[in-house]
Amino acid sequence: MNILVTGGAGYIGSIVTEELIRQGDSVVVFDNLYYGHRAAVHPKAAFVQGDLANQADVKAIFDGHAIEAVMHFASYTLPGESMELPFKYVGENVTNGLNLLQEAVEHGVRRFILSSTANLFDDPERMPIDEEERIVPGSPYGESKYMLERILYWLDHIYDFRYAALRYFNASGASPTGERGEDHTPEYHLIPLTLQVALGQREKVTIFGDDYPTRDGTCVRDYIHVVDLAQAHILALRALDQGSRTYNLGNGQGFTVKEVIETCREVTGHPIPAEIGDRRPGDPATLIASSDKIRRELGWEPKYPELRTIVEHAWAWHRSHPDGYGD
Ligand SMILES: NC(=O)c1ccc[n+]([C@@H]2O[C@H](COP(=O)([O-])OP(=O)(O)OC[C@H]3O[C@@H](n4cnc5c(N)ncnc54)[C@H](O)[C@@H]3O)[C@@H](O)[C@H]2O)c1
Repeated sequence: MNILVTGGAGYIGSIVTEELIRQGDSVVVFDNLYYGHRAAVHPKAAFVQGDLANQADVKAIFDGHAIEAVMHFASYTLPGESMELPFKYVGENVTNGLNLLQEAVEHGVRRFILSSTANLFDDPERMPIDEEERIVPGSPYGESKYMLERILYWLDHIYDFRYAALRYFNASGASPTGERGEDHTPEYHLIPLTLQVALGQREKVTIFGDDYPTRDGTCVRDYIHVVDLAQAHILALRALDQGSRTYNLGNGQGFTVKEVIETCREVTGHPIPAEIGDRRPGDPATLIASSDKIRRELGWEPKYPELRTIVEHAWAWHRSHPDGYGD
């Protein structure tokens, strides 16, 4: 298939592109490079620099390439920032998504994968969180993804527009080829922040609270290897002809903050100093997504569920690219 990957110069989109190309698909990457990196784009992918906010840019991709399916990653992505900038998040994430959807519909494209988020579940009643959990977006960021999910629902109803919405927490690790990994500025994710200490780029890592009701007092979170995530997106795409679908995605187990830091110490051989800070407001003790439905329906099976492998791949990337893509 010829697949448009928006945000394909970013962390997840670039690795999904790598996987698609490895599996024989053609990819057109569309990215404004505000947060992404030209060097992250696979050399066999076509690259179009443009902004989803600009309808003419979006139209030009569909006019110029025979797109058969869309994978949509381009977005503002930080729940915390969205609490300070709600208009940017709800406004632009939704409007940009609408621009994309409108051009897709008008150009006869009927297959769409939305990179959604587990930030839809701010107050879960069950853990792990499955697809039956009630939706309570945790931030304007989560709300913007939920709005896009609802729009997709109506497009399916009206145009037989087939979509999959995939909701997940922390994408982590790097491509096992060592060519692509995480390079966010600013960085908010625990594994890269901890590895930056091992690289000498940070003095220490802060643990926000160690008095939670968990096995070691620190928060339990779900980390899913970015290649397993890529495979889930690709499986969902291949299944779209049988109907639209929504999946939660997690790697089946959670890891505490202390376990993540300890694994980073083992993998890097660096002592990685850590300090205990205050709890952050709104941080639940445990957040884990259930993947039972996607396993059952699509046979998805994470290839890299072990925290150690996730950290090893991330470390291989960060050690060989201490300045990320260098731009
Ligand atoms: N990283 C995670 O742990 C995680 C977890 C759940 C969901 N997600 C979702 O996955 C997607 C990708 O996340 P990521 O971590 O790879 O983010 P990222 O910032 O690395 O990648 C996003 C890419 O989109 C591009 N982009 C943003 N706005 C654009 C616009 N208006 N026009 C064109 N390009 C634009 C950026 O330049 C960047 O390359 C996002 O939609 C995010 O909400 C990420």
